[in-house]
Amino acid sequence: MSPSTAPLTAAKIGKFDVRACVESFDPSLTSTLRTVMAEVETEMRRRISATSDPWLNQAAGHLIRAGGKRMRPLLVALAAQTGRPDHKRVVCAAIAVELVHVATLHHDDVMDCATLRHGVPSANKLWGNRLAVLIGNHLLGIAATTGLEISTDFVRRQGWTLTRLVRGQATEGSTPRPGESAVEQYLRVASDKSAALFAFAAWAGAVCGDTSEKAAEGLAGYGEALGVAFQISDDLLDIVADTADFGKTRGIDLQTGVRTLPILRALSAGDKYAERLGEILDAGAVTDPDLRHEALTLLRSSPALERTYDDLRRHAAAAESSLASVPDCAARDALLTLCDFVVRRTY
Ligand code: IPE
Ligand code: IPE
Ligand code: MG
Ligand code: MG
Repeated sequence: MSPSTAPLTAAKIGKFDVRACVESFDPSLTSTLRTVMAEVETEMRRRISATSDPWLNQAAGHLIRAGGKRMRPLLVALAAQTGRPDHKRVVCAAIAVELVHVATLHHDDVMDCATLRHGVPSANKLWGNRLAVLIGNHLLGIAATTGLEISTDFVRRQGWTLTRLVRGQATEGSTPRPGESAVEQYLRVASDKSAALFAFAAWAGAVCGDTSEKAAEGLAGYGEALGVAFQISDDLLDIVADTADFGKTRGIDLQTGVRTLPILRALSAGDKYAERLGEILDAGAVTDPDLRHEALTLLRSSPALERTYDDLRRHAAAAESSLASVPDCAARDALLTLCDFVVRRTY
């Protein structure tokens, strides 16, 4: 299927979407964010359609046009607002961060054999693994050249962030290190594959807002903790969400045999749910749809699900605490609201 005939849906603000939350911020902040985010959208689309190849221009925009919450660009913009933001640099940094994110979605969908992303067929589904990987690489290239407009220091940190992302993706599902529990391994992988980019986004915003070094450090710590909380919330949603709202296939973590935190917590509960779940998961990936349905029902009924909600709240609270070094302002309040949002979206 050519990219131009791929079914595209308009970006929709679903119940898991942070954009609904932006409307509740301080009115002047909301208005600034709307302007910044609109420019990020236009400029990001311009940059990805600027190669000399029409197919690549279209294909690279497929997932971006289809949706995405733009949580990381929002983090860049909000972190910058805690200082004195330089509008052009904020837009540039937000694009450089989001393109890394979208690139990793292309690669992740190949790894997960996913078929649905942002409510539309994923790139690997439409054009196969080889082209999906290339589109991801192409986006990384644009992310790096965009980042260079900020500074070489920005690109250095972007490169390090990407190394962590790849390390997280590559070590997911491997055996824990000696002396490490499965839960500790899960948290280490979540830090690398997801939180690294949240930390980079918040740090990038601090740089573009010219904040104090102390505030920048606090913001990076905030991003790191929020990122782990976000991954936990995503893993909960993989169990409790409706596919239509979620924009990706529910139960894919079971299908790919990834033992996420809610699965690990349920398995170690020592109750009847753990026993049956253990039998189903024994073979690794749960490819049979009926068994997957049963496993999802067990996970949702397991009293241990509440333990994952506790984990989620703990990481969201850690993100809140990291903001202690950030000056009191509307943007800081908004960053606190995001901690609450990451927890609330799972209910
Ligand atoms: C998905 O992130 C990957 C994870 C870190 C769980 P998002 O939920 O932020 O992706 P978008 O909003 O669909 O782009
Ligand atoms: C992968 O985590 C996060 C990335 C770095 C892309 P998931 O596999 O849970 O992400 P989704 O659920 O496919 O978005
Ligand atoms: Mg995935
Ligand atoms: Mg997921």
